[in-house]
Amino acid sequence: MFLPRRNRILRQSPAIRNLVAETILSPNDFIVPLFIIEGENQVAEISSMPGYFRRSLDMTVMEVKELWAMGLQCVLLFVKSKDALKDNKGTEALNPDGLMQRSIRAIKEAVPGMLVMTDVALDPYSSFGHDGIVENGEIVNDATVEVLAQMSVSHAASGADFVAPSDMMDGRIGAIRKALEKSNHHKTGIMAYSAKYASCFYGPFRDALDSAPGFGDKKTYQMDYANRIEAVKEAMMDVEEGADMVMVKPALSYLDIIREVKNSVDVPVSCYNISGEYAMIKAAAKMGWIDHDKAVIETLTSMKRAGADMIATYFAKDVVRMMNGGAIVNGE
Ligand code: PBG
Repeated sequence: MFLPRRNRILRQSPAIRNLVAETILSPNDFIVPLFIIEGENQVAEISSMPGYFRRSLDMTVMEVKELWAMGLQCVLLFVKSKDALKDNKGTEALNPDGLMQRSIRAIKEAVPGMLVMTDVALDPYSSFGHDGIVENGEIVNDATVEVLAQMSVSHAASGADFVAPSDMMDGRIGAIRKALEKSNHHKTGIMAYSAKYASCFYGPFRDALDSAPGFGDKKTYQMDYANRIEAVKEAMMDVEEGADMVMVKPALSYLDIIREVKNSVDVPVSCYNISGEYAMIKAAAKMGWIDHDKAVIETLTSMKRAGADMIATYFAKDVVRMMNGGAIVNGE
């Protein structure tokens, strides 16, 4: 048979496959989410996220040192607020000595080079478990945006490198940028959760932070997963309002959105490989139905191939261990 082009030539050995691989994972690609709780010497496994933990601040600092030693250079902080401190306006979110503010200071002091990003939304502080202020059963936009802007300034004042608003209120990126400028935090970045969808895959995270909505769902602010073009609109508006990076979340069922956004904006694009995506792989691997390491690498590679410049993932440590000092190409 005469064939002018034989595509298998470029697939015939690991060496040639590695040479022509278009997508390579490296520790630089990862943002490590951390769940912080009050107390001392506390490390508790999250039941719906096997192998992932909530830690008190002292243990979190130790974990951050370990991450840094492994070559992981970016963390994204979430705190679990005490029920007694929760109210409708998320007052505790602005406490200069709140758990988030103390955590930022302690981490930056222990590992100054670590890039610290912080979650900005009211749900861990809200007595209703919603990302915004509730009035007459509705999540009100503008009053929430004011609190989010103050919250961002408070995180910046504590030393956060980036604030990451995950609330999906309208106009919050512009308001946060303005508030940061006004308070002279000219070096604080904004990673906007621009295309955040109302997803069932957040379940395990809500267990981790005990932050499930007390009534209803989040569909009046998080996006409808039937929509693609709307994600482009959200991302472009966030960039116009001053976002330094945009994010697509979840990731695995949204690879088309990652690519669409990547093709539409001129800022780095991140995606969030969320809790439910983590739990699915852990569960199937535990049953012996898939190979854990291969599934993790294939999943993360697909996100980067889709267009993600970086990936927030609970698998970051696992992957760096698999890398064994080098980058991963095709899992080989
Ligand atoms: C809420 C927030 C959520 C996640 C990050 N920030 C959950 C939600 O919107 O209810 C989910 C992360 C994950 O599932 O891993 N501000």
